Amino acid sequence: MEFLRFYQFRTPRNITFGLGAAETVGEKAKEYGANKALMVTDRVFGPVGIIEKVSQALSRKGVDPVVYDGVITEPTTDQVEEGLEVYRKNGCGLVIGLGGGSCIDAAKAISVVATNGGRIQDYEGRGKVKKPRAPLFAVPTTAGTGSEVSLSCVITDQQRKVKFIVYSPYILADEAIEDPLLTLSMPPSITASSGMDALTHAIEGYISLREANLGYGSPPLIHYLAIPAIELISQNLRQAWANGKNVEARSNMMLGQLLAGFTFANAGTALAHGMARPLGAYFHVPHGLANAIVLPHVMEFTWVAVPDKFARIASAMGEEVASLSLIQAAARAVEAVKKLCADIQVPKLRDLGVREEEFQRVVVQMARDGIASGTPQVNPRPVTEKELVELFNRSF
Ligand SMILES: NC(=O)c1ccc[n+]([C@@H]2O[C@H](COP(=O)([O-])OP(=O)(O)OC[C@H]3O[C@@H](n4cnc5c(N)ncnc54)[C@H](O)[C@@H]3O)[C@@H](O)[C@H]2O)c1
Ligand SMILES: [Fe+2]
Repeated sequence: MEFLRFYQFRTPRNITFGLGAAETVGEKAKEYGANKALMVTDRVFGPVGIIEKVSQALSRKGVDPVVYDGVITEPTTDQVEEGLEVYRKNGCGLVIGLGGGSCIDAAKAISVVATNGGRIQDYEGRGKVKKPRAPLFAVPTTAGTGSEVSLSCVITDQQRKVKFIVYSPYILADEAIEDPLLTLSMPPSITASSGMDALTHAIEGYISLREANLGYGSPPLIHYLAIPAIELISQNLRQAWANGKNVEARSNMMLGQLLAGFTFANAGTALAHGMARPLGAYFHVPHGLANAIVLPHVMEFTWVAVPDKFARIASAMGEEVASLSLIQAAARAVEAVKKLCADIQVPKLRDLGVREEEFQRVVVQMARDGIASGTPQVNPRPVTEKELVELFNRSF
């Protein structure tokens, strides 16, 4: 264990976690001096009562709720513009992302442009945001993307047909409010895909070479977050998927995805995320599902490079490894993830209606895009274009 180097660990200013935490949103809004708050959300939440619940919590403390509910999965530049207009027209002083990663990312983008001006496209990449954003709360309803504790937002530019990332320390939310009760209404398919996104964050943050490449080594804190995150997610995702009203499983998933969020926000992701993005761009496969589909294949490719880490992952996933050799134990991690995917019915790409000819037409370009994203380079086993094509083919 190395304690002699400096590490910077980034988190939101406050994290409020627990059953009913969403009820605190009004008093928190008051602390930021807001009289009107824009809720950036999805109209799906109307019927399940989530918008009403948070609106009432704001009103009780004298904060007027203003609703922009135009975010439909994977937010677009147009939705950011629309939400911003509502924010400005109503003279709001706070943005609240209420929903899955899509709503939280749209809220992040609105809060950045509200103070920095221009369009969100102007801030694509790293470090382009120059001024603090408008006050921002993130209230997740999936478990989850960890976007409420991350330094980035992912927005789709319809004109250029690309998903781009805005990455800046200014993007970190002021308050993350984690209420497992808001996740009870998630259907099984979203429970599976967002849960597998979280598992991928924990595994990839744990094995990523990003910090090592920068010369710092992997931040020790990450080990104490990633392993419990893997434990919590792999030991509760099946139950949350099978019975969405299981409050204990939902709470453990919320905690697991939060720890996974800290992990990737501070140590990055790796090859699976590099493959998930082109799948989203070319075939509109939702982010979490794309990760779930490629993760077992990426792990099968990668484990030989870091068997010690994979043996630790297997043990965190509940595999009995004490009597196994290091190599046998490491291979078990791959089997454990495959079994989890099977149990929660993660589909193959062909089951999603992706046509094979279409897939073959773009697979080399997807491999190039994946390499250009930079994440494959921080995978413990570097990958060539040819190998990446093969990994895409195995995922089909
Ligand atoms: N910024 C980051 O750090 C980061 C990290 C990972 C993913 N992302 C982004 O997050 C997005 C995916 O987010 P997601 O997986 O949370 O899904 P999502 O926000 O796209 O939501 C998926 C669907 O689930 C529904 N839903 C969400 N919560 C629900 C609930 N409690 N009850 C009923 N329905 C519910 C939504 O209405 C939507 O139809 C992608 O755009 C991805 O790029 C961002
Ligand atoms: Fe992710």
